[in-house]
Amino acid sequence: MRVLLTGASGQLGAYLLRELAGRDGQVVAWSGSQTGELGGVALRAVDLGDSDAVARAFGAARPDIVLHVAAMARVADCYRDPPRAERVNTHGTALLAELAGRAAARLLYASTDLVFDGEKGGYREPDAPRPLSVYGRTKAAAEPAVLASPRGVVARLSLLYGPGLAGRPSFFDQQVAALREGKPCRVFEDEWRTPLALHTAAAALLAVARSDFTGLLHLGGPERMTRLEMGRRLAAFLACDPGVLEPMSRGSITDPEPRPRDTSLDTALWRCLFPRYSGVGWEESLRAMMT
Ligand SMILES: NC(=O)c1ccc[n+]([C@@H]2O[C@H](COP(=O)([O-])OP(=O)(O)OC[C@H]3O[C@@H](n4cnc5c(N)ncnc54)[C@H](OP(=O)(O)O)[C@@H]3O)[C@@H](O)[C@H]2O)c1
Repeated sequence: MRVLLTGASGQLGAYLLRELAGRDGQVVAWSGSQTGELGGVALRAVDLGDSDAVARAFGAARPDIVLHVAAMARVADCYRDPPRAERVNTHGTALLAELAGRAAARLLYASTDLVFDGEKGGYREPDAPRPLSVYGRTKAAAEPAVLASPRGVVARLSLLYGPGLAGRPSFFDQQVAALREGKPCRVFEDEWRTPLALHTAAAALLAVARSDFTGLLHLGGPERMTRLEMGRRLAAFLACDPGVLEPMSRGSITDPEPRPRDTSLDTALWRCLFPRYSGVGWEESLRAMMT
């Protein structure tokens, strides 16, 4: 099996790379711009906004499975440059879907809970996307091309958490540092998600990729929580003072794009098809990733 992993230098990509290490088969790892190596695998910089470069690198990779997790994944970056976000997130993904289709390769695309507006919560796969941000719109717009690919899977992921492996501190790392140093940290008390541990997401995505499943699948953690609850439970896990977490409300900030209130995912389909990976809770995941 030859696996092509896009976004290998990102938060999720680094966990996938680690999960792939030591398994049979060959891994080709792409980043956006980073070169060097990660986890003993060489990174090849391939800009998804450059169609010719993508087609050339895909031809060289000759993958059986494409794990496509690369994206302009920061909401603020997409807001600042919508045409680029569309080129990378939407057109780049559609091109990979076309190339994978032609090569009869399996394609798994990491989409997001931010395709929903957050008004309802508990979103199931048939619920209609209604993104509020450029990021959400460009990710949602790529989904039909993947679903049209004969062996395509769209995995919509909830908020991911866990220590960074790729050398870039995530929001989670910053929160851990703030808690350990006793520094004040503002967190939303009125934003709900079903947070999913990075190591579970990586193991589950691989299991889905190696299965015969095609179509749309929601992957999220087993508990619906606010960011404040996540912070408080993280503080308890680390035996730190939760008093440094300052609750704030979505209404108190002026983001240029509205923040969805509740993008929790209903993961019943995933739990039914892949029960091994879908029930791992917050504290158990922290123990697995941090000790
Ligand atoms: N993190 C979350 O909570 C979350 C939740 C739901 C869904 N997702 C989805 O999961 C995937 C991974 O997210 P993440 O948090 O791991 O993101 P991340 O840490 O920001 O990593 C993004 C990856 O994409 C690559 N990339 C960026 N721009 C690119 C371009 N123009 N061409 C090719 N590659 C490019 C980056 O490469 P460089 O390192 O070279 O820049 C990096 O490897 C994304 O598709 C995201 O939409 C994430």
